[in-house]
Amino acid sequence: MKKFAIVFVLVSTAGAFGQTIPNLFPYPNAHGVLETLNVNGTDLFVGGAFFQSIGTNGRSCATCHQAAQGFSISSDEVRARFEATHGLDPIFRPNDGSNCDHNIDTSTEGGRRKAYSLLVKRGLIRISIAVPGAAEFRVVSVVNRYGCGDTATISAYRRPLPTTNLSFLSTLMWDGRESSLQTGTKKITFPVATGDPSSLSLLLFNLRHQAVDATTGHAQGVVPTAAQVDDIVNFEMQLITAQAADKKAGDLTAAGAQSGPASLLHQLPAFFVGINDPIGMGPAGSPEFTSSIFNLYSAWANLFPPQSDQKQAHHRAQIARGEAIFNSKPINITGVAGLNDDLNIPVIAGFCGTCHDSPNVGNHSVSAPLNIGVGDVTSPLDVSYLPVITLENIATGEIKITTDPGRALITGKWRDVGRLKGPILRGLPARAPYFHNGSAQTLDDAVEFYNQRFNIGFTPQEKDDLIAFLRTL
Ligand code: HEC
Ligand code: HEC
Repeated sequence: MKKFAIVFVLVSTAGAFGQTIPNLFPYPNAHGVLETLNVNGTDLFVGGAFFQSIGTNGRSCATCHQAAQGFSISSDEVRARFEATHGLDPIFRPNDGSNCDHNIDTSTEGGRRKAYSLLVKRGLIRISIAVPGAAEFRVVSVVNRYGCGDTATISAYRRPLPTTNLSFLSTLMWDGRESSLQTGTKKITFPVATGDPSSLSLLLFNLRHQAVDATTGHAQGVVPTAAQVDDIVNFEMQLITAQAADKKAGDLTAAGAQSGPASLLHQLPAFFVGINDPIGMGPAGSPEFTSSIFNLYSAWANLFPPQSDQKQAHHRAQIARGEAIFNSKPINITGVAGLNDDLNIPVIAGFCGTCHDSPNVGNHSVSAPLNIGVGDVTSPLDVSYLPVITLENIATGEIKITTDPGRALITGKWRDVGRLKGPILRGLPARAPYFHNGSAQTLDDAVEFYNQRFNIGFTPQEKDDLIAFLRTL
């Protein structure tokens, strides 16, 4: 009987290969291996502008967007880098890597350990955004234990989003600020009339804008040349990333399963902005919503294993059960800003896929930022390491307390407080911790967040199954 074996190779950076990473190189992580496919079918050239220090502080895009971690960065990687360099790696820069940018001591290792604690422990970058002039609210107070309690410019702490699978995006950045009229970028929509720009052209415009902002911001550089911007965006757009093998279940394309990056690439021609949206935000005439977002593992639902592969077949069946739970477990959605309030429906009978509606990808297929409570001080997860920001509605006097005002810092709108996008769920196992603020250290924490926040009532078995599934994305 042929046994599946995964070879776990120890490589942490692209640098090990010089200028290229082999196409579909298997990067190991805690749950299996992750692979990135180049849509052009060639090896990945990693000598371009994305990998060069084109700013002034030694950073490149790859400082925070690593192939091995699905083009985000895990807190494990940050911690390893801190230990290896005593906190001197270019990710440790006070402009946005430290908890605050003033009154910190970065001259000693101990000082750096303190100054960069949120980056090391939770993989968080400080995003500071000025409160818009005409905001519908005023900032009453900011209680920030690290300093940076300015009420005119808010410091939020956020996880680097993956720079892969970008063709599936309907929103750029957690708060959508790189796909928003307010910042000179464009809302990513589907064309309605003839002559409307394609969603792809809107996305590319925004990615170019974002590459400039990331260079002048994170890398403290001057505006990059058009050729550098092209090079960065072309690099990002060729990437398709997914987990390819699971430690316990083996090859994620075996026995009829359709996971891994090659099948994700096949998803691309079918994708359009607004696909499968449950509340009619997609293009007129698009097919009706189905909550069955993922159909990667249905072939594993009824495996009758030969004796020797029983353990593996057991894991495969568990992953198939987890997929079914994602697709069909009822969730009563309440108190979600962007859904319950906008639709004026106090309880929405939903599923994971009501918000993660993009088929086999799992992001929100339309731009519709939501506040599911991850940044609320009432979150079931620990958010005590974050600042507490109190906002007051100027017209009504209503108060909201949050750890991240989210989209409201872009639009100035009261209703947008705490709203953020639902990210792509592929590549999850490589990029812990989760949620915009890193409050879920593991996928177990993320599932427990939902269980408590929406009173789902998962049985221990259902939780294990769902987690086993999420670990294969
Ligand atoms: C210091 C770390 C850091 C560096 C360096 C960095 N980024 Fe990021 N990146 C982030 C963080 C944090 C976010 C999410 C911020 C937010 O949404 O508020 C992000 C988000 C993004 C996104 C949005 C993806 C999505 O799903 O919306 C893209 C694209 C991106 N970065 C590209 C780049 C490029 C290109 C460069 C180099 C020019 C770069 N980044 C350099 C930390 C970094
Ligand atoms: C009401 C909408 C909604 C529902 C229902 C929902 N999600 Fe989410 N999900 C979101 C949003 C919005 C985010 C980003 C939240 C944040 O970081 O603040 C998110 C983030 C996540 C993340 C973290 C991704 C990352 O890159 O950090 C995971 C994992 C996840 N959801 C899994 C699930 C699962 C599993 C279910 C069903 C049990 C589910 N979600 C149900 C809206 C939803």
